[in-house]
Order: sequence, then structure tokens, then C-alpha cells
Amino acid sequence: MSLLHEFESVTEPLRLEELFPVTHPAELEIGCGDGGFLLEWATRHPKKNFIGVERLLGRIRKLDKKGRRAELTNLHLLRFEARYLLQYLLPDHAFDAVHIYFPDPWPKDKHRRHRLIGEHFPELARRILLPNGIVHLRTDDPAYFEQMQESFLPAKYFSVTETPVELANVTTEFERQWNEEGKPTLRVSYRLEK
Ligand SMILES: C[S@@+](CC[C@H](N)C(=O)[O-])C[C@H]1O[C@@H](n2cnc3c(N)ncnc32)[C@H](O)[C@@H]1O
Repeated sequence: MSLLHEFESVTEPLRLEELFPVTHPAELEIGCGDGGFLLEWATRHPKKNFIGVERLLGRIRKLDKKGRRAELTNLHLLRFEARYLLQYLLPDHAFDAVHIYFPDPWPKDKHRRHRLIGEHFPELARRILLPNGIVHLRTDDPAYFEQMQESFLPAKYFSVTETPVELANVTTEFERQWNEEGKPTLRVSYRLEK
């Protein structure tokens, strides 16, 4: 059976308990691509449920295929625009962790408003995270990394926390590519206060 979600409504918030056979703590990856990270992370953590969000059909179809081949029952995929999901469709206070790795950097000044992590992001993340939930971010782009940190600075309900070594060691598709080209991973994690 496909892991891709069939949206019956694009106005009613999703109900996680209806998406998985067993209710477990849940994590979310936004912009999961074809699953270089998520497949490995979900395989390592069978007692957690995972949602992957990706807007490109080709990429998420590849992940669907790989997830089915691995017989993962703790992975569910949403082909949808992340901002709309964050604002309207993801449930309140539902996730232990949100992973966003190598989001599109939009390097030109006039395109910066397209970046996902900006001044409004911490509030969106706060809505969907459980107390003590963590946002994990990675990028290869120093200017975007700075913007990520500036965006979280005024959000006093988040504090910087260490990224677990086990997590940092699970790399993404883009990360492997950039690292091979000599661009190091810039990473930061933020924990939501109780
Ligand atoms: C640079 S790629 C990184 C993919 C993966 N995280 C990795 O590190 O290998 C960014 C991914 O985010 C997806 N993406 C960008 N903006 C998005 C949005 N607003 N909603 C959903 N997916 C988005 C893109 O389609 C792309 O697959």
C-alpha cells in the first residue's frame, strides 16, 4: 500500500492517529526529498512515527517506493506545500521533533522572502511541537544559517540545544553531495520550553 497520503480535505487538520497503525511519538521532516535521511531514521526508530513532507512528486514517489520495499509502517508521506501545512493542516502540539535539512537557500537578495526559515517560522514550529520538542536545522549556506539563527533569537520560548551525535551522523542526500564538494554542514537545534 502506498505511503503517500490521499488528501480528502485541505481545510481540516490531519489526525495523526488515523495515519499510522500504531500510535507512537511522532517526528516530521520538511523537504524530505527522496528520503536519504528519513528512510534511515525511520528504520532505526520503529517505535516512532514519521511524516515526510515534499512538494516534488518525482522525489516523494521514489521515497514511497523505498519505504514500501523496506516495509516501513511508521512512515507516512505528504506531497504538499510546507507553509500551508505548517499553518493549517498539521495538528497542534503533535511532534517531538521537526527536521529541516538543506532547505532551498534562495541565494539572491530579491528571492530571500521565499526562504522557509524566517521570522515567522518559530511561531509555526511552536504550534505543532510538544513541550520540549526540538527543531533540527542543517544547511551548507552560511548566509541562510545566519538567517536561521536570527529568526530564532527573538523567540525566547526556544533555546539552543545540542544535536544528538546519532542524529548528526545520519546524513541527507544533499549533505553528502555538499560535503564531498568540501562544503561543511552547518547545524543547529532549538528546544521548545515546557
Ligand atoms: C535542497 S533539497 C534538500 C532535500 C533533502 N532535505 C536533503 O537534504 O537531501 C530541498 C527540498 O525541499 C523541497 N521543498 C522546498 N520548498 C518546499 C515547500 N515549500 N514545501 C514542500 N517541499 C519543499 C524541495 O522540493 C526539495 O526536495
